[in-house]
Amino acid sequence: MRKVRVGTAAPYDVLIGENLTPETVSRITDNCKKVILLWDEAVFSGYVAEIGNALEKEGKEVMAVSLEGGEGAKTIESYARIMKIISEFNLTRSDVIFGIGGGTVMDLAGFVASTYKRGVELVQLPTSLLAACDASVGGKNALNMGEEKNVIGTFYQPSLVAIDTRFLDALNDEVFSEGCAEIIKMGYIGDAEMIEMLEKKPLLKNRKDSEYLIEIITRCIRLKAAIVASDERDNGPRNILNLGHTLGHAIEAESNYKIHHGRAVAMGLVLITGISEKKGIAETGTLARLIKILTDHGLEWRCPYNLHVLAGHVERDKKVRGGTLPVIVPERFGSCVLMKVKVSEIRKWLTEE
Ligand SMILES: NC(=O)c1ccc[n+]([C@@H]2O[C@H](COP(=O)([O-])OP(=O)(O)OC[C@H]3O[C@@H](n4cnc5c(N)ncnc54)[C@H](O)[C@@H]3O)[C@@H](O)[C@H]2O)c1
Repeated sequence: MRKVRVGTAAPYDVLIGENLTPETVSRITDNCKKVILLWDEAVFSGYVAEIGNALEKEGKEVMAVSLEGGEGAKTIESYARIMKIISEFNLTRSDVIFGIGGGTVMDLAGFVASTYKRGVELVQLPTSLLAACDASVGGKNALNMGEEKNVIGTFYQPSLVAIDTRFLDALNDEVFSEGCAEIIKMGYIGDAEMIEMLEKKPLLKNRKDSEYLIEIITRCIRLKAAIVASDERDNGPRNILNLGHTLGHAIEAESNYKIHHGRAVAMGLVLITGISEKKGIAETGTLARLIKILTDHGLEWRCPYNLHVLAGHVERDKKVRGGTLPVIVPERFGSCVLMKVKVSEIRKWLTEE
């Protein structure tokens, strides 16, 4: 088992390995009497039952609440349903909520835990590759409002993240490759060596090599933990994690979420790299290398929408502050710069030849 410490104001561990149920359950405090398991119904129910049984053996009262993963989990209606169930179960502030699912369940569970009675303890068990490498760590949570992505949310750190790679076995290649998009983004912003590893040995084709999988996940978590610890509330350096996301979120919204997050991020990375090369910021050849690595990981890189259409969404991005949007622009693998573009000029900035 690997362990990464996230050095936020209230630090916590991220455990990475196979079969982490005993270690996870052993860390739940004695004060806790009740545990809610918010789990994605697509996840193998046997593992969820194993966690529930182990908690019951420790004398906890457990309620498992299943939900459908996907962006539908991050709606106000879904949030209201879960809050009602939790309230009827009479969860108290010394009790615990487990989020068990992909990034959408991590976002929902985080928001529920941060707002129920102004905050109850949260344990995140990511079950998709994307959630394992990214969404489970860092304390951002979110709900969508209509087509507006992640506009409701808080910062709320979990007390533990346990990445049990057994869950990832059941993912189909399509969902697995969506996680690869965030991994490639992580390498792009700060781990050029990992990019080289992925070029030589694509993770998608080598997903059954559990040592390799654990090594890649650990690298992503180390990088994310360092960035989050340096800027827990997203006031500056943490913006870098947004590489490919400003356009990615616009693609998701324009497709009415038919293009999933990881795929939209892959297209967003390609678009911003193309723009950066044209502006003479990214090293020539970066785009070609990016396209090759995305293709090797089963990711379509061509975006079905033109930049004029996407600009309309970007102008309304939630990161706009004082009429300016921070945009992360790649220079080469392992290095990006933050540029501040006036919202009134963003359309021209994105589309100029
Ligand atoms: N908070 C953050 O820091 C952060 C970071 C990155 C992404 N996100 C959010 O994460 C979401 C994307 O996450 P995602 O790609 O995991 O999406 P997801 O939660 O929709 O999961 C993808 C699909 O995989 C299924 N699934 C999950 N685990 C499974 C398993 N073990 N076996 C079989 N099926 C399984 C889900 O039911 C769903 O159909 C987006 O909403 C994005 O905004 C948040």
